[in-house]
Amino acid sequence: MSLRSIISKLIPQKVKDKINIKKQKSFFLEGYNDFLVTGKTSQDAYMTLINLYCRTNGRFNEIMHKKLAALNPPAVKKEGEGLIGKLNEKDFSNINETLKKDGYVSFNKKIPAEIVKKLYDYALKAPSLAAPLYDKKIVYDENNPVSEIYRFDIQDLVNNSDIQALIMDESLINVARNYLESEPIFDFPAMWWSTCFLKEASSEAAQLYHFDMDRIKWLKIFIYLNDVTPENGPHSYIKGSHQTGTKPQHLLNRGYVRISDKELSKEYKKEDFITICAEAGSVFAGDTKCWHKGTPLKKGHRLALEFEYTTSMFGSTNPKMEILNCSDAFKKFCKDNERYASNFSFNNKY
Ligand SMILES: [Fe+2]
Repeated sequence: MSLRSIISKLIPQKVKDKINIKKQKSFFLEGYNDFLVTGKTSQDAYMTLINLYCRTNGRFNEIMHKKLAALNPPAVKKEGEGLIGKLNEKDFSNINETLKKDGYVSFNKKIPAEIVKKLYDYALKAPSLAAPLYDKKIVYDENNPVSEIYRFDIQDLVNNSDIQALIMDESLINVARNYLESEPIFDFPAMWWSTCFLKEASSEAAQLYHFDMDRIKWLKIFIYLNDVTPENGPHSYIKGSHQTGTKPQHLLNRGYVRISDKELSKEYKKEDFITICAEAGSVFAGDTKCWHKGTPLKKGHRLALEFEYTTSMFGSTNPKMEILNCSDAFKKFCKDNERYASNFSFNNKY
């Protein structure tokens, strides 16, 4: 046995872990500085973020987030009417407290039925990308599904005028602003059909429990565009599991992987497993650091729209979203909210 391995054996594992985390933090900071210069996150730096999240049980993300939030303080909070109602400061504060405690909050007010119908009709006609290859766009045929999930192209979504109107909604932005304690960046929209094509839980369709880690901190807004019952794939999450230091460390030690219901049921109380069944137009917000999944469908389909708001674009690298068509109102909104709109790029004509 070499002297090196003898010394290594004498060092307690806890001390080794501390040294390792320290090394990773300095590697992360190098990667973050590169990101500030280039606007791009290297794959290694992104992997280090995920690893540090797992090793520190979320503490590293919170520390980084506090620093970033201090650099980009929230704009003056605007009261007033929006998609989720006419909310005052107290209402927003209650929403924020629920998010901090539970990780999710459902809003009482639904989005108008005519917007739901327009988006639903759009999704029935517009081509989308089907799993597992996502290589060509096809129109979803509800009578003949060929995949468990059909994802719409982000570029198509950001150029849809109804989605642009939702992106501008001040009430949703204010929820993100409060939760992120900073002026948010609109990260991306997503919309997808989940179907009952497969008879078992699909990892591809995120139907096994997992946590997201695209960014340092983020908030998602979900809008159901059809009625969601226990049969057609309700979103499920484990209440409070986004909180720093609360995930079972032995599960985090496995890294960024999917975990079975059975294993998680040994770790959390039954009443903390929440399933969101709600009517078309229902809106809820979630910090998807919580363990979450889409429940596998028994029949029918589910159409969901999702927005992500973030403190920083460090993390998973996607090209900027190119706006090719928009209203004057959207153009003005983006000019007035430069940071929020910084992940859009505008065609020359704007
Ligand atoms: Fe997810």
